[in-house]
Amino acid sequence: MVAMIDKTHHVPVLLKEVVDLLNLRPGSCVVDCTLGLAGHSQHIVKHISPNGFLIGIDRDADSLAIAQENLAQYAGHCALMQKDFRYLDNVLDQLAIKEVDAFLFDLGVSSYQLDTPDRGFSIRNNGPLDMRMDRNSFISAYDLINSLSTDEISLILKNFGQERWHRRIADCLVRERVKHPIESTEELKKIILNAVPRQQQHQKIHPATRAFQAFRIAVNRELEALEAALDKCIPYLRDGGRVAVISFHSLEDKIVKDKFHSFSKQGKIRILTKKPLRPTDAEVTDNVRSRSARLRIAERIGKKEIE
Ligand SMILES: C[S@@+](CC[C@H](N)C(=O)[O-])C[C@H]1O[C@@H](n2cnc3c(N)ncnc32)[C@H](O)[C@@H]1O
Repeated sequence: MVAMIDKTHHVPVLLKEVVDLLNLRPGSCVVDCTLGLAGHSQHIVKHISPNGFLIGIDRDADSLAIAQENLAQYAGHCALMQKDFRYLDNVLDQLAIKEVDAFLFDLGVSSYQLDTPDRGFSIRNNGPLDMRMDRNSFISAYDLINSLSTDEISLILKNFGQERWHRRIADCLVRERVKHPIESTEELKKIILNAVPRQQQHQKIHPATRAFQAFRIAVNRELEALEAALDKCIPYLRDGGRVAVISFHSLEDKIVKDKFHSFSKQGKIRILTKKPLRPTDAEVTDNVRSRSARLRIAERIGKKEIE
């Protein structure tokens, strides 16, 4: 029997930890900066009801439409916006919101995006080389892979994928695209497989996994967005308000860790997670995509004295 994939479903990662540690109360104002299908937010709204307010932000219009259905019964208590979270200040200003009790960032892409082949995120299912979270944005993976120089591709693979064979892969991609443009995720996978040394070709994790991550980060300028958003959210946090960030790879986690340390040194926040929280074995068994998740949480302090 063929298993059906429920594309409207995303199992929220570290849900209990997020809900408990965000210190949610009836009446809280919460910004879910990575709404996705509202997996976390469906639980958040229950904790802040009856008079709380949820602002949900996502760059992806398709996800937002599903989230809207999933939150339909709370429609009067939510504002959902299609926006890059790096502009969260614009969203809050537009809603005339001056103070927030909690921000949540659950980074990366959702199961829904990964499992939809025509989005081009998946290494498992063939699709076009797209990888844009916002399908209205101008640059896709196709554009980067078919037009950047060898040096530029190599740098993306090195910096955003920590890919050891970055130069070899970049050389092969540029050589192949002279014959014809590289159009699909399957073609990209094959070229990378042939580019890495033979003994690397039969690893448990596909040799193209790091390159897929790298191109996705480059297409969506993910790391810049995260840095900007962390800077912007702190001033909106109410004294005692909290920010929670779930990251899925060391590049993201390092940004969160460094930003939190810097805000802490400036006396703006107290870090509540000395070490990031990780999912339990039981959660990883139930939801294998949670396996690399790391959650960091911080609390706003001394706002009145400082500002
Ligand atoms: C891991 S999923 C979140 C899943 C969600 N917490 C849930 O339980 O349904 C990450 C979501 O964040 C969105 N996203 C990633 N970076 C973004 C950014 N810079 N601005 C807005 N949305 C972003 C993606 O489109 C994706 O829908």
